Amino acid sequence: MCGIVGYIGNENACDIIIDGLKKLEYRGYDSAGIALYKEGKIQVRKYKGRIANLEEHLKNEVFDSHVGIGHTRWATHGAPSDENAHPHTNGDSTIAIVHNGIIENFVKLREWLETEHQVTFRSETDSEVIAHLIGLYYEGDLLEAVYKATEKMEGAYAIGAIAAAEPDRIVAVRKDSPLVVGLGEDCNFIASDIPALLKHVRKIYLIENNETVLLTKDQVKIFDQNRKEVKREVFHVTWDADAAEKEGYDHFMLKEIHEQPKGIYETLTRRLDESGKIALDGISLSKEDLDRIDKVYIVACGTAYHAGLVGKYAIEKFAHIPVEVDIASEFRYRDPFVNDRTLFIAVSQSGETLDTLAALREAKKKGARILSVVNVVGSSVARESDDVFYTWAGPEIAVASTKAYTTQLVCMYLIALYMAQLKGVIAQEEYRRILEELKAVPDKLREFLKKEKSIEELAKKQYKRESAFFIGRGADVGISYEGSLKLKEVSYINSFAIAAGELKHGTIALIEQDTLVVALATQDQLYDKMLSNIQEVKARGAYVIGIAKASNREIEKQANDVIYIPDCADEVAPLLAVVPLQLLAYYIAKLRGCDIDKPKNLAKSVTVE
Ligand code: G6P
Repeated sequence: MCGIVGYIGNENACDIIIDGLKKLEYRGYDSAGIALYKEGKIQVRKYKGRIANLEEHLKNEVFDSHVGIGHTRWATHGAPSDENAHPHTNGDSTIAIVHNGIIENFVKLREWLETEHQVTFRSETDSEVIAHLIGLYYEGDLLEAVYKATEKMEGAYAIGAIAAAEPDRIVAVRKDSPLVVGLGEDCNFIASDIPALLKHVRKIYLIENNETVLLTKDQVKIFDQNRKEVKREVFHVTWDADAAEKEGYDHFMLKEIHEQPKGIYETLTRRLDESGKIALDGISLSKEDLDRIDKVYIVACGTAYHAGLVGKYAIEKFAHIPVEVDIASEFRYRDPFVNDRTLFIAVSQSGETLDTLAALREAKKKGARILSVVNVVGSSVARESDDVFYTWAGPEIAVASTKAYTTQLVCMYLIALYMAQLKGVIAQEEYRRILEELKAVPDKLREFLKKEKSIEELAKKQYKRESAFFIGRGADVGISYEGSLKLKEVSYINSFAIAAGELKHGTIALIEQDTLVVALATQDQLYDKMLSNIQEVKARGAYVIGIAKASNREIEKQANDVIYIPDCADEVAPLLAVVPLQLLAYYIAKLRGCDIDKPKNLAKSVTVE
């Protein structure tokens, strides 16, 4: 999704901004642009396509600028084009802005600006109205003009603005779209996401909703909605800039697949006390709270939603509480039955997905208690929750989520076991057994990843496929959905997942000679049933890749190829079973020559509805 970087200081703003935008490339974008000063005027350069294209256009120009704003755009209103790219300017280009989010009343504002103020628009975007509004209200004070403009605007925004007449300041404002300020020595930054700034700063201000920021090179002032200056604690980023580099891997996706043993280990061990029991420090869910809770909603989007499916399985099995898993964009519009006896669990890697955030607010309004499972510290979802359970995946850069997903699964297990113990509905041996199984996963996964080559070989046989089906039962259903999503996201193969038992109620009509079916059979108690399902598709000519535990060899008689995962308890098998599916998707996409880390049309963090 769109990225913002702004800089004010003594260095060459152009280089710093372009470099920062590159760090946000992973979020997905289709055009890029920059606004800088040249000979006392604001100059804008913006182009459809990659940042490299923008750089190519800039290579013969010299900008004597120490202030600027840049943007990577992911099209929502208006197709990707030079005109629609940001920054946008007002009529005489004395104001330039970059914007993330959506101005919901832009049609009305545009009409008003056109008819009442004879404004001519140059793009089809909602964002351009912001530049004209600020221009309209500008009387020599950019901060004041931004205040007045935002009073007119409805929707979500993170905006960075500069004015030709005030080359010593940047004004930024935030409502519902992420915005951070980086604090440097003799320089300051704005950005939509921390990785853009890590090369230069570790000290960050997390800007809250409805706050406006005034930046000069040696000062940052934050103001609330009532224009009162607010004090903000500095947030120190502890993770390394290297964590956002590829470190010798061809792609971030592969690197992140390999980081899963570490991520799982960290997420798990940080929540275990010295006696090896789950200690959810900082999470204030007491036995009394839990006794009141009669229903859990897990709400999320994309891969995080798939983690929720496994969460349902774990919470219902261990804690005996009914769980509903919902897609955030559906939850918020269907008047769900939520009250003060509901525990609402939001799952989100970025913590900025707008639908998840909106669903969370909806549930909060109805009195639900909010627990979130989030990877990005200080993100909006984290800040608006009663309790936060952080995943320790580290920064995830590839658009297709891998390590965030497996660490989300670990959180789901820990939450389920913790609730089960608080409620007193799990036997101690069972509790210990599952924890031991979880603790064994990182090493098992490390061993498994050594056999990665065999999955690459399998990919060589399958990469020309046009479609694929994923089937499974029990906990394997969620894994089938996730494996199928991974394949379609990165390789663009038309892939479909379904509970194996449901196959015969329609979808089996699509199985014909040589159709690829990936059959997950990691659940011992459902193993025989899965073998029957494999026979069903084989009988219609399917080519089957089976996924099973190392000791369950029976499947070899049915499937054309088998990937064996290490032996483990059924309950934790999803953590191991999803990894071959991630690798299969990765290698198939690589063989097809796809842009693996930045698949077409996708964004890492979807901050619009
Ligand atoms: C986007 C990403 C997915 C991700 C989903 C939810 O669609 O491409 O990989 O699963 O958003 O994101 P979140 O940050 O809320 O987990």
